[in-house]
Amino acid sequence: MKALILSGGKGTRLRPLTYTGAKQLVPVANKPILWYGIEGIVAAGITDIGIVISPETGEEVKNLTGNGDRFGASITYILQEEPAGLAHAVKIAQPFLGDSPFIMYLGDNLIQNDLTPFLHDFKTHHLDALILLRPVENPTAFGVAKVDESGRVLQLVEKPQVPPSNLALVGIYYFSPNVHEAIAQIQPSARGELEITDAIQNLIDRAQPVESRILDGWWLDTGKKDDLLSANQIILDSDVRTEIYGALDESSQAIGRVKIGRGTTVKNSSIRGPVVIGENCHLENCFIGPYSSIADNVRLIDVDLEHSVILQEAKIEGIHQRIVDSLIGRRAHLGAARPRPKALRFMVGDDCQIELA
Ligand code: G1P
Repeated sequence: MKALILSGGKGTRLRPLTYTGAKQLVPVANKPILWYGIEGIVAAGITDIGIVISPETGEEVKNLTGNGDRFGASITYILQEEPAGLAHAVKIAQPFLGDSPFIMYLGDNLIQNDLTPFLHDFKTHHLDALILLRPVENPTAFGVAKVDESGRVLQLVEKPQVPPSNLALVGIYYFSPNVHEAIAQIQPSARGELEITDAIQNLIDRAQPVESRILDGWWLDTGKKDDLLSANQIILDSDVRTEIYGALDESSQAIGRVKIGRGTTVKNSSIRGPVVIGENCHLENCFIGPYSSIADNVRLIDVDLEHSVILQEAKIEGIHQRIVDSLIGRRAHLGAARPRPKALRFMVGDDCQIELA
């Protein structure tokens, strides 16, 4: 069994962060989303992993993630020159996949469930495809499945205008090598992509065994800001343990589960967990409330924030209103010259959103 993780795409829904970086590397609780997928795959006993990368962000994915040693896996990178669809990614990965069955995992998905029981069913039922589904309120934004009571898949449609059910395809699929033949038979869709949903539909049309399972745990498709903040909240809730490597002075306190990285200094501040703070940060006169993740090399002075994600090297100084539900990009700088500013002065990049609530 191998795994193929898709880590290309343009990440349009997370702009502006994804103008300069891969959406799969945006951190959740200070760890790239992609790494949760790799860890889940390794936990299911699969260590031969291919990662499909794009020309735009591939080097960054490769440099940060490495050859797999840190996960106890072996990682092969496969370059997809054009974003020509999920089934196209499988096609170009054929030399890596050979005739092995595999899990295909979309690198911006996070799920709570363990992958192992589904893998067991996939193998013991001798399936050509096993797909994971989750009921959603907006099925038109996803691939949608119609299934019978036993979980057998009857029909799949990509982003349908009239959805046949409310069951969305989660971006995790189990395939036998027969999927390659199905991919060879399909044509690009109206949006010009080779769709994996069409390849699975081709298996169904040829009466090959395709089943589904419904996820009972949470699923986060971290394509948007609010999804990312919820993912951050859920992971901080379940994963953070108190680990303080940085230095808090005597007028600072950390309450609840708080993780602070090496080289970070905290002066005259209160931190109320669950919170993670990276390495080499400086915090002074701050209140950091629950569900905040602060990446490495961030500087926060006179700041009150909660339920927010602050990326590397951002600087926030002298903002006296509470910052909530915010996502602040790398190297961003927010500052106020005096406690009650008389004017607001901005230099804001393309596609940014600022809301004075
Ligand atoms: C892709 C798939 C879609 C699936 C979704 C899950 O869509 O094409 O079938 O439901 O991932 O994340 P995309 O997110 O690329 O629009």
